[in-house]
Amino acid sequence: MTTLYEGAFAKLNLTLDVLGKREDGYHDLKSVMQTVSIRDDVELDIGTGKPWTLECSAAGIPTDETNLAWKAAKVYCGELGKEPDGIAIRITKRIPSGAGLGGGSADAAAVLRALNRYYDEPLSILALAELGAKVGSDVPFCTLGGTAMVEGRGERLRRLPNMPDCVFVVCKPEFSVSTPELYRKIDQVAIPRRPDNQAMESALLSGDLQRVAENVYNVFDPVVTAEHLELNYIKSIFNTYGSLNQQMTGSGSACFGILDSFEYAAVVCNMLKENYSQIFIAKPV
Ligand code: C5P
Repeated sequence: MTTLYEGAFAKLNLTLDVLGKREDGYHDLKSVMQTVSIRDDVELDIGTGKPWTLECSAAGIPTDETNLAWKAAKVYCGELGKEPDGIAIRITKRIPSGAGLGGGSADAAAVLRALNRYYDEPLSILALAELGAKVGSDVPFCTLGGTAMVEGRGERLRRLPNMPDCVFVVCKPEFSVSTPELYRKIDQVAIPRRPDNQAMESALLSGDLQRVAENVYNVFDPVVTAEHLELNYIKSIFNTYGSLNQQMTGSGSACFGILDSFEYAAVVCNMLKENYSQIFIAKPV
């Protein structure tokens, strides 16, 4: 039996635009995504000689074939015709779920990378990311990591220049948002403002953190904030204590602020700590 270890990194949507509904019921997106140093640990035993199992350190996460990490292993083995004699997956969870941080997708992506390594890299990282689309919309980006423009349902990826050095503070309020419901809601409203992805891309090219921060925008943010005014409170704390900009990530409910120093980030954390228990300081990875 071989044990593999792989880090699973959370993602933030620096921008997120919903372009329209597709015939398959999904939506075409355009999003600049960034992986950050909030990490789950994924361990994979291969060749256990027993039926497949999955364990997770956090309660409330499925531990059967509906878990994206399990699904990823199944998709990888199915597509590449591999028949490992039993797999055991163990996930140490730190990425909050129902947060828009892509936690489940990050775990799935880690499984894909680990299995590809075990079988001597038959797939390039881009081919592996493409395979990830069969597991979930955020899996392709989580497989690649870094900074990227993500389009289509999430399967079209283009690497962008790395995010300039900065510190993220991420705060997950208690409530969670149903992603499919949020997509249904956004179909029924006019989108009054959209991110300028071209401006974001050129800000990244110039390595100008201030301009990157100015261009952070997620079309879901006002839709969720309208129903959960506490997001305004969180964002006001970010804004008051030196964050360059602040926004919800993905379909929420976590919000992040971008700061240019660890000291300011620590102050923001202290202020949020009074009302929130799930707060993280993270770096781009
Ligand atoms: O693929 P994933 O499981 O992450 O998507 C969750 C749900 O979010 C989908 O069932 C769909 O309702 C919605 N979604 C969408 N368009 C996308 C991604 C997700 O409509 N590009």
